[in-house]
Amino acid sequence: MMSPRSDANQPLPEVTLPTCPSTRLLKNQKALVTGANSGIGRAIAVALGHAGADVVVNYLHGEDQAREVAAEIEHCGQTAIAHRADVSNEEQVQGMFRKMIAAFGTVDILINNAGIQKDAPFDEMTLEQWRTVIDVNLTGQFLCAREAIREFKRRGVVKEVSCAAGKIICISSVHEIIPWAGHVNYAASKGGVMLMMKSIAQEVAPYRIRVNSIAPGAIRTPINTAAWETPKAYDALMELVPYRRIGEVEDIGRAAVWLASDHADYVTGTSLFVDGGMTLYPGFSTGG
Ligand code: BGC
Repeated sequence: MMSPRSDANQPLPEVTLPTCPSTRLLKNQKALVTGANSGIGRAIAVALGHAGADVVVNYLHGEDQAREVAAEIEHCGQTAIAHRADVSNEEQVQGMFRKMIAAFGTVDILINNAGIQKDAPFDEMTLEQWRTVIDVNLTGQFLCAREAIREFKRRGVVKEVSCAAGKIICISSVHEIIPWAGHVNYAASKGGVMLMMKSIAQEVAPYRIRVNSIAPGAIRTPINTAAWETPKAYDALMELVPYRRIGEVEDIGRAAVWLASDHADYVTGTSLFVDGGMTLYPGFSTGG
């Protein structure tokens, strides 16, 4: 890779991110966040709670963490339920939606977040590694989206709550468009999420249902510790990030609140890249 311009190498100040949105953009709305016990899912669940939504905090492993997230949401005056379900299991997904509808009456917002990586060089990738990633990252999003759409269509628009009959946000990745050697299963799952999201969006737009993705870049979470935990790894990562800082989970939480809210009412079928410019072909900043 070409070396970046020298002024682009100057240290940049640490950022202090605002934590709690001052307006309750999602007042009276009911949200389900999958994989909400840690990382990006956790931050989104908390941000939705701060914005006035009641939240189902889905988890598969990490019950204690999920209960902590629920407690944090209740601390903002909302109701939260931690619920264990494997998003790749049809019965468990249907059971989770039944429980949510029994407890909250409906579902207004689905955040399809649960996702995993099982990395391997391509010729060493096992069928199990391939299948598990596709099952969780793609089939899991399909199963949850299908249940949400059924409920959105059944209920329709309740204009006191939202302009839309429902909102789905798929948590994708920059790797829905950036190929990723050594992570073929993951990139294939996220490429799949992109066209699944757009196709569902096209199909359900006439029902006033909005379906979008957030495509995060490198966000400081447990999934990619190796990419940021040492100064050497962090510096190498910054070569890929024109904005010259790692993303924080709150960057994604705030984007999700906006995209789920009526402020984004005319936005459907789009991927919102929250990536500090990772998708801007940073290798071309000095070359080409
Ligand atoms: C992956 C991370 C990676 C980031 C940028 C994400 O989707 O889960 O491991 O650091 O993309 O490459």
